[in-house]
Amino acid sequence: MKFLDELRAEHVLIDAVLGAFRSWVELRGEGKGEAADGARFLAFFQLWAGHHHHAREELLLFPALVRELELPANRGPIHVLTGDHQRLGGLLEQLAPLLESGAEMTAVRPLAIDYSRGLWLHLDAENSVLLPEAEFRLVRSGVHALPDREPSAEERAARDGGIALVARYPGFEDLAIIRGEGCVICPAFGSRCDGVEKEWWNQSEWDELPHRVG
Ligand SMILES: [Fe+2]
Ligand SMILES: [Fe+2]
Repeated sequence: MKFLDELRAEHVLIDAVLGAFRSWVELRGEGKGEAADGARFLAFFQLWAGHHHHAREELLLFPALVRELELPANRGPIHVLTGDHQRLGGLLEQLAPLLESGAEMTAVRPLAIDYSRGLWLHLDAENSVLLPEAEFRLVRSGVHALPDREPSAEERAARDGGIALVARYPGFEDLAIIRGEGCVICPAFGSRCDGVEKEWWNQSEWDELPHRVG
């Protein structure tokens, strides 16, 4: 589905820009890299990752899942992922004045680590559970397309800035987090979300279970 494919492609870029951002933080700590790139990273995360990407998930995708699949909005995956967006937005609000003013990396680093780890795990949950489950179930319900919106000129400029930053700074592998696919790896599993079968399956799937397992 085109809209979901767009979201997947945006995840690839956001993932890469997070790596470039973490490398930039380490380089700046050594007096290397370009101080002005801090504002470019900020513009990417605010305008492209936040205003364009997260907002379209919240305003266009999640309501479609509630409407078409009867997923609850007040618990489970939609609630968890919306909460992630809010927490990450809050971290970005704290980072903004630091990145705009060229603050020392001792102040930037803890927030950059928290933001990047949170967003990486969020991307993993969406790539491995949200998007495949949503696509399978929407198509099965007869929904083959969802409305989307084009990025604004400002959002496109922020995206292009992110692409340039990925070319300028190396990737970064954070060995302190375990990335992977599926619910078991998700920090919300078992506390705020009970996993695919309990959160996504409808009654007819549960009714079919005895036939499936023979
Ligand atoms: Fe998201
Ligand atoms: Fe996303």
